[in-house]
Amino acid sequence: MLRTHTCGELTLNNIQQTVTLSGWIQKIRHLGGMIFIDLRDRYGITQLAFNHEERPEICEKAEKLGREWVISVTGIVIERYSKNKNIPTGDIEIEVHELEILNEAEVPPFTIEDESDGGDELRMKYRYLDIRRNPVKNNLVFRHKLGLEIRKYLSNNGFLEIETPFLVNSTPEGARDFLVPSRMNPGEFYALPQSPQTLKQLLMIAGCDRYFQIVRCFRDEDLRADRQPEFTQIDCEMSFIEQEDILNLFEGLVQHIFKTFKNLEIGKLERLSWNDAMKYYGSDKPDVRFDMRFVELNDVLQHKDFKVFNEAELIVGIKAEGCGNYSRKQIDNITDFVKSPRVGAAGMVYILCNQDGSFKSSVDKFYSQDDLRKVAEKCEAKPGDMILILSGKKSTTRKQMCELRLEMGNRLELRKAGEYKALWIVDFPLLEWDEETQRFYAMHHPFTAPKPEHESWLESRPGDVLANAYDLVINGSEIGGGSIRIHRPELQKQMFKALNFSEEQAQNQFGFLINAFKFGAPPHGGIAFGFDRLCAVLCDSDSIRDFIAFPKNNAGRDTMLPAPTPIDNKQLEELNIKLNLQTENGK
Ligand code: AMO
Repeated sequence: MLRTHTCGELTLNNIQQTVTLSGWIQKIRHLGGMIFIDLRDRYGITQLAFNHEERPEICEKAEKLGREWVISVTGIVIERYSKNKNIPTGDIEIEVHELEILNEAEVPPFTIEDESDGGDELRMKYRYLDIRRNPVKNNLVFRHKLGLEIRKYLSNNGFLEIETPFLVNSTPEGARDFLVPSRMNPGEFYALPQSPQTLKQLLMIAGCDRYFQIVRCFRDEDLRADRQPEFTQIDCEMSFIEQEDILNLFEGLVQHIFKTFKNLEIGKLERLSWNDAMKYYGSDKPDVRFDMRFVELNDVLQHKDFKVFNEAELIVGIKAEGCGNYSRKQIDNITDFVKSPRVGAAGMVYILCNQDGSFKSSVDKFYSQDDLRKVAEKCEAKPGDMILILSGKKSTTRKQMCELRLEMGNRLELRKAGEYKALWIVDFPLLEWDEETQRFYAMHHPFTAPKPEHESWLESRPGDVLANAYDLVINGSEIGGGSIRIHRPELQKQMFKALNFSEEQAQNQFGFLINAFKFGAPPHGGIAFGFDRLCAVLCDSDSIRDFIAFPKNNAGRDTMLPAPTPIDNKQLEELNIKLNLQTENGK
């Protein structure tokens, strides 16, 4: 061993002990006849002291050292004169008697300290240096501990961790597949799994009963702060259960996680139907840390002289408490926000509820004080509050209002870090109508079971069928989703029909599963949590990249490796692939 201790563990209890430490040099300070060095490893920082007078030859060697050099020192633990209360080893330092240089290092492209001067791209290019920094390293430690705890919980509940293959056929999760050409089968491709959905269902048919896997999934979709092309799921499936069993068991897991990592009793999770989530929050992943529910105002605001509202499918308002004294400038600023391309609203109506009980609005021309009072009553607004109103097509207005609600939540600091609200969204529609292709798509995936009482509507009123599907939402982030699966071949056939799949298409894509169902499929269902997202939400971070050792950037690139890259012609020939790339100018 090149060390007797780590850089994070020595305290006054170790005074006068001879120790050997190894690590990276974070900082060098010259002070009179002394050189002080902060030595860093995964566990912390320890101060090294080199005394010129007592050991000139070691000090001379130390003069040459630079930031991030790798060294090993042996010396005696002594008490520090000026103590550093901010670190666990802050009471001691090492009086260095021996110094070995294990490796030199170039000057790093950014400072490797908690607050770095490196921009995002630079830190990603040198991610191995970024990981030396506490904030990134601590996130990886957190991820490890969370994974371990989840494995333990699931294992204690009878779940088996079973690995499923990465080279598979495509799965119907809705995103594009990443494809892998097969050299041995020219012209044929594997797909990387978007999730092990079909395989975990096969494991239920195989009698595994309770399966889980902390597993990488691959989806070729547009990237955002909460989406990576490869990400990790905590993927679970159970047999002989109903929706209620799954919700209860995984609610237990969520409670256990909050208790273990946040020391919080989050209690029973609220359940909200998809319909209500859309009606009251305009989103299937509402942030319910704050209220500000939508209030539909068609009945009180239509049939007056205001054309915009009269023509609107939906008029919806939110109450911003305590904002009744907003200035013109503040209101203009909010209006600019709703009109920004990101939100895309044509405009916004406001009503200020004055302290004297009167109202001031941007539509005073069309509405009497009495009309405005009715709106305020509906919104349960008090003097001193403000009501913000949007109108238009139902689905677009809800989306826009959702953005405005979240923005107001941010501005009023109602989305507090360290506060957590988890809930289940239930009763999702089974199918989603797509205007462009004029057909229904599965909202979750084609194996999701309709509610038994709606099965008979599959043909007559498919749009009304609700599914036994559920999502777990924490602080406005979709953390998990799952469903009870169809296990009877007859129902699966009906589902494919509703999805406009011919028998042949269904056989081609899912023949393996349809056939497996013929051999005795148990009633089953499951859920998958986004592990990266779970880490991020528990640590109050917006970006899952912070919790992935080597993430991709928003263009799907790993700038460090780098990847993707063009491939050698020889390699392409072996794979029987001819590239026919067209550049923008057609060459
Ligand atoms: P779903 O597609 O909802 O369900 O995925 C489950 C969870 O995975 C996370 N997630 C992602 N995280 C990071 N980057 C991405 N690109 C990404 N895509 C999804 C989300 C999401 O809630 N097979 C079903 C589950 C089931 O029915 O059991 C599935 O994959 O947190």
